[in-house]
Amino acid sequence: MKVIIKKTKEEIGEEIAKEILKDIKENDHLILGLATGSTPLPLYKSLITQSKEEEVSFKNIKTFNLDEYCGLDATNDQSYRYFMNENLFKYLDFEPNSHHFPSTENCSKYDDLIEEAGGIDIQILGIGENGHIAFNEPNTSLDSKTHITSLTQNTIKNNSRFFANVEDVPTKAITMGLSTILKARKIYLIATGKNKAEAIKTMLEGKYIPSCPASALNLKENDVYIYLDEDAATLLKE
Ligand code: GLP
Repeated sequence: MKVIIKKTKEEIGEEIAKEILKDIKENDHLILGLATGSTPLPLYKSLITQSKEEEVSFKNIKTFNLDEYCGLDATNDQSYRYFMNENLFKYLDFEPNSHHFPSTENCSKYDDLIEEAGGIDIQILGIGENGHIAFNEPNTSLDSKTHITSLTQNTIKNNSRFFANVEDVPTKAITMGLSTILKARKIYLIATGKNKAEAIKTMLEGKYIPSCPASALNLKENDVYIYLDEDAATLLKE
């Protein structure tokens, strides 16, 4: 695991976008694992601008998103599919059927779909204040595959900032499991802001702590990159 601290979230976005485009230039059939939330937005912005400048095509790239709320379809502006269309997909030359999202229908097959596509080459992750990755809440099993989960009150409260009322936040979601995520060949976890500092401190203790799902990344030896801004890194020692 490599920890990289940058001054701003924009710098983080630029650097990871550069790395992803470098990999796509070497293999234009990459499989990307994508995340939603406010954290990856600067990365998606940089991917759009840099790929235009460097004329990199996404025609052969397939994407698998980490998670989706139960009960919100693609037309709902709070669904993660809508978010991805608005913030990334519509700006690039992806083929229309190249995007995959977990759903109540494909849930038990989602891991197989990923495997059949060749496995995830690059996985982008954010982190919840409680250490969740995707919607793997504290104490989710390490063996978990894509599954339906109940969201914690903390997650519902945090995610309510995107909804008109806290009552509108779905209480269930479909998420890749921890074992699904750990299979990705390369992982970039991004954390920005002081509210992530505590979870980052726990994650970087170097061992797997079930109450902090992100700490499962300690079990993967190579190709895990943790990008932090200075705020998210405030509780780390030298
Ligand atoms: C949601 C998503 C996570 C994301 C987290 C943090 O719960 N399921 O994948 O990492 O929120 O969101 P943000 O980046 O907005 O802080």
